[in-house]
Amino acid sequence: MKKIHINVSSPYDVIIERGSINNCGQLISQVLSTKKAAIITDDIVDPLYSNTVLTSLQNSGFETYKFVFPNGESSKCSSTLNKIYDFLCENQITRRDVIIALGGGVVGDISGFAAATFLRGVDFIQIPTTLLAQIDSSVGGKTAIDIHGGKNLVGAFKQPALVLCDSETLNTLSAEILSDGMAEAIKYGMIRDKQLFNQIATHNITNVAEIIDYIVSTCIDIKRSVVEHDEFDNGERMILNFGHTIGHAVEGYYNYKKYTHGSAVAAGMCYITEKASDTSVYSELCKCVMAYNLPVTVPANISQLLPYCTKDKKRENNNINYVFCPEIGKSIIHKTTVSEFFNMMEGD
Ligand code: GLY
Repeated sequence: MKKIHINVSSPYDVIIERGSINNCGQLISQVLSTKKAAIITDDIVDPLYSNTVLTSLQNSGFETYKFVFPNGESSKCSSTLNKIYDFLCENQITRRDVIIALGGGVVGDISGFAAATFLRGVDFIQIPTTLLAQIDSSVGGKTAIDIHGGKNLVGAFKQPALVLCDSETLNTLSAEILSDGMAEAIKYGMIRDKQLFNQIATHNITNVAEIIDYIVSTCIDIKRSVVEHDEFDNGERMILNFGHTIGHAVEGYYNYKKYTHGSAVAAGMCYITEKASDTSVYSELCKCVMAYNLPVTVPANISQLLPYCTKDKKRENNNINYVFCPEIGKSIIHKTTVSEFFNMMEGD
């Protein structure tokens, strides 16, 4: 078992262990005294892992309740959130109980936001079952739902009481969802860890399983160090946004339908690196991105994408913060005006 302690305002551990999902009841009992758990999951994860989680919780003496919603980003909305609140009320979940998010990023984000707001805060555990959720969204306390105005625009910081990462759950991921998570893993290598990048770059989508435990724990440790320095996203945490300024624009331009978040971020990393870094960094990044079946570009031209960048949460009035990597393993946050950013991206 590997344990990474996240030392933030409300500290907690991330446990990384194969098969730990089978033992979640015992592991949760070690950090919380409640014996009543509300599990929130989606209709893809439910048939795969709910029974395992429920059985383990019940064997540890928990009274359990389960809420299942349709998978996909379109469920991360106020209507699903209201259904979750109704489910929590119907089952008399109190502030002494626990909400457990079982699934990928959508499940974690909306369950975390429900836990942050229901009764002004209920304890919350993350059991992430996708690579992206394990290495990024389950750690660090960002929770949110999407509204008509944009993605993740209503949210709260709510640190979980425990994160349980069982990399065996990654065996059931489709190749597309594994690639989605690999984009974020490549991002961690680019912004902070050349060795991680090199390891990823010397593998590909067909054999990355050989190093998946190393990837999960290394990425979580990078996230730990970033979040510990800037829990509330006022400075250094923006480096996690590498590739996301254009990535979010790609997602928005294509209505969150054509590209997964990871694919959009992969293309976003390539676009910004082409303009802001040396050709050698750009070509290493592109090679790596392609080895994981991720896109280097998208069909829309950059001028069509750029208007969507101004919706980015990292924008400040007429300025935009973008992240680039002067070399692999190092990142810089650069603040510039929106028009200078557009000129750079549209220039040759
Ligand atoms: N996923 C970006 C962050 O946690 O800040």
